[in-house]
Amino acid sequence: MANKFYITTPIYYVNASPHIGHSYTNIAADILARFMRQRLGRENVWFLTGTDEHGQKIQKAADEANLSPQEFVDKVVVQFKYLWEKLNISYDDFIRTTEFRHILTVTRVLEILKNKKPTPDIYEAKYEGWYCIPCETFWPKTQIEEKLCPDCKRPIEEISETNYFFRLSNYQGWLIEYIEANPGFVQPANRRHEVLSFLKLNRLTDLCISRPKERLSWGIPLPFSPQHVTYVWFDALINYISAVGTFDKDGKYISGWWGKDTQVVHLIGKDILRHHAVYWPIMLHALNIEFPKDMTIFAHGWWMMGQDKMSKSRGNAVAPLDMADKFGIDTYRYFLLRDVPFGLDGNFSEESIIKRFNSDLANDLGNLVYRSLTMVEKYFQGKIPQEGVLNEQGKRIKASIQALSTEPDLALNIGFNFSLGLEKIWNLIAMANKYVEETKPWNLVKEAKTTELEAFIRLLVDVIKAVADAIYAFMPDTAKSIKEQFGDQEIKKGSPLFPRIDTKPKN
Ligand code: MSP
Repeated sequence: MANKFYITTPIYYVNASPHIGHSYTNIAADILARFMRQRLGRENVWFLTGTDEHGQKIQKAADEANLSPQEFVDKVVVQFKYLWEKLNISYDDFIRTTEFRHILTVTRVLEILKNKKPTPDIYEAKYEGWYCIPCETFWPKTQIEEKLCPDCKRPIEEISETNYFFRLSNYQGWLIEYIEANPGFVQPANRRHEVLSFLKLNRLTDLCISRPKERLSWGIPLPFSPQHVTYVWFDALINYISAVGTFDKDGKYISGWWGKDTQVVHLIGKDILRHHAVYWPIMLHALNIEFPKDMTIFAHGWWMMGQDKMSKSRGNAVAPLDMADKFGIDTYRYFLLRDVPFGLDGNFSEESIIKRFNSDLANDLGNLVYRSLTMVEKYFQGKIPQEGVLNEQGKRIKASIQALSTEPDLALNIGFNFSLGLEKIWNLIAMANKYVEETKPWNLVKEAKTTELEAFIRLLVDVIKAVADAIYAFMPDTAKSIKEQFGDQEIKKGSPLFPRIDTKPKN
């Protein structure tokens, strides 16, 4: 296993406020970062997020807001930082593509690729064809029907201009071999197949990495052609290396977070898979950047509203803070990762949150914690009893506690399957609740079976402490609150963690 862990999220376009879909990736990344810090130590984990601040979309949004692009991005970025803080996203670094460190690295990348010998990886050529302005994408004639963008279905334009191209086509064979030799590189497996069959069935065309300034000025100028700026995707992908390293004078990339001893995880949504699984590895390879020991691009699914993807342009976006304010931050984090297996699409609704809340949080976890606190208070004056001899059921529970504590990296070990990880934790909670119902502690009290009662309650406390450790990465505030209520020897009972949400209409 690598001894350093570097995790990234996509950098978000700042043309609009963040919605649930954006918060999903950052919460998932936060959970993995917290897991890995527990496992490797804080200093060996680096969690990067940030914002994508150049390009047409941003320029347009700035124009509409009557601000300069820089003023506009400076304003919106605050919303992202505020949201991440509220949602307990423990990132180590936040990169903005308008920062000097990033612009410098992009400039170096362009120079290195343009000056590559014997064949430069960037060359100048004339482009004639179709272009979708909102998507900033060139489309070959063969894919165009009725002059509409094959992706967003908006009208596209025919253009003719001189641009710069990155020689993707040279590396197609290499990439197929790389993906085949590294089964963990693109995950989950269906996405890996999707990329491989795309690569095997199509000829890669070179990527246009510039835009003429007269059409778009908001971007990083090409060092070898001041009349052009860099295509926003080429600029954006580089954030993953510009944030954690630099190129030396010979064009060698130097970084403490990118090398043989590092595991790198790029979490993304499925709509940006091709950029990450095709362009990005080719860019790294063309730059002679050594691949990390273990590198994964994991593409998760979408949050949907009925049949539609949640998005600003469809007008169905839900603000994460509205949900966190209404149901609590940890409930929101829990819901997103529990309700849908990571990798699949999920349907968002407040009813599903309430359902999860009332069953998993109020009924299962909240009830176990509260009834245990009440019993320690009532039967033992708030002092946590000693361990004792357990019956068969108790022994099985004890074994499950141990099993859970030897799986600190639950989600990673089972292929980023956060919902399965949570399910395992909740199995233990269910066992403990069942144990209470079957043991009927009030009878032990009546029959004055004090040692049995001690052993029973102590086991419940041990379950709760193990659960608090296991849910820490998912629900940091809840874990902390449970830990505070169950000390080493005594309890400090607070109010119920998850009071049931009443769904019956009031008379
Ligand atoms: N700026 C690019 C990413 C560059 S990364 C080098 C971008 N930005 S974005 O703001 O449009 O989208 C960011 C991420 O949000 C993507 O991973 C996308 O999949 C994700 N989501 C946007 N809407 C989503 C849902 N409705 N559901 C889940 N995730 C979705 O693309």
